[in-house]
Amino acid sequence: MAKKPIIQFNHVMKQFDDDAPVLDHVSFEIEKGKFYTLLGPSGCGKTTILRLIAGFTEATSGDILFEGKKINHVPANKRPINTVFQDYALFPHLNVYENVAFGLRIKKVKKADMDAKVKEALSFVNLKGYENREITDMSGGQKQRVAIARAIVNEPAIILLDEPLSALDLKLRYQMQYELRELQRRLGITFIFVTHDQEEALAMSDEIFVLNKGKIQQSGTPNDIYDEPINRFVADFIGESNIIRATMIQDFLVEFAGKQFECVDQGMDPNEAVEIVIRPEDMEITSVEQGSIRVTVQAQLFRGVHYEITCMDDTGNEWLVQSTKKATIGEEIGLRFTPEDIHVMRLNESEEDFDRRLDAYSEDENDAK
Ligand SMILES: Nc1ncnc2c1ncn2[C@@H]1O[C@H](COP(=O)(O)OP(=O)(O)OP(=O)(O)O)[C@@H](O)[C@H]1O
Ligand SMILES: [Mg+2]
Repeated sequence: MAKKPIIQFNHVMKQFDDDAPVLDHVSFEIEKGKFYTLLGPSGCGKTTILRLIAGFTEATSGDILFEGKKINHVPANKRPINTVFQDYALFPHLNVYENVAFGLRIKKVKKADMDAKVKEALSFVNLKGYENREITDMSGGQKQRVAIARAIVNEPAIILLDEPLSALDLKLRYQMQYELRELQRRLGITFIFVTHDQEEALAMSDEIFVLNKGKIQQSGTPNDIYDEPINRFVADFIGESNIIRATMIQDFLVEFAGKQFECVDQGMDPNEAVEIVIRPEDMEITSVEQGSIRVTVQAQLFRGVHYEITCMDDTGNEWLVQSTKKATIGEEIGLRFTPEDIHVMRLNESEEDFDRRLDAYSEDENDAK
């Protein structure tokens, strides 16, 4: 029998007063021992999902399960879950030891065991020997580590992290991203991490849930989401993209910029209006003759590793391309891409519709065998 997910949401709805729902029939599964990220713009419902998992608030409808058992009404302190908050929520009048030991004291753990556990947790976050430091004398990054030590010392099954790195400067943030990911691997605890920073999500996660307006837009590995965004929101939110209006002529043939191109997508209606995505780094600058399309260079920015070049095709579409070669403004060039570089998206397709379409065409393939 397949293992039960550690957390499962079944059509969870959350509504405050008579307002529109903050979460709208959200369903997902979290597997044990992986690093998950909830990614989305401000106000999309990320913190609300964490609060529901932690038990700080209750769902308006739908079920929340822990290892297959419904926990909708289980209080927060009865769930094997700890939260690391954005503002750390440390106790300023207690030293590092007492902050980390807090949960153990509540559980009345014996002094010798408590000392050993606090020591181990501090060494996990590279704060060996800091037991007696006052919280007020710690830097932002060190406070962050104390907050993490305070969560892991309780040996929870799940750690929830609500934008824990957003207060740190860029360099420290990168370092902590790396440390958190390493820590999760070493501990094997399930981490559910919240961020609105797509690069952070791509760098850290096993699985990402992209949220917008209280709905999961897409879930998958960083590669799935980056390479195969299923709708405009995801394509636009994750990385720089060219999103161009197109017509799906038939399976494997799409028209845009006044030409027809072979592609790898299928399952749309003939002549359906669609959008295509091509990532700026997937296109190559060529001579006009060798290009898939002809464009005119409009603007160019040097970004350190590459140039970011904005071009316009004959039908008025703007194209962003990354290249290590410099272009000349006003010059006509070709942009070359392959059928695999073109990702066709149905207008406003939801994740459920997308999955259904994929299933339908894998069934077709099976029928053909
Ligand atoms: N207690 C509450 N009463 C009424 N509305 C609330 C309450 N808590 C959250 N909301 C609303 O629910 C929506 C989602 O809030 P949530 O805090 O989950 O967003 P978020 O994705 O974490 O955003 P951010 O990135 O800004 O932290 C927002 O519109 C917010 O105003
Ligand atoms: Mg939030």
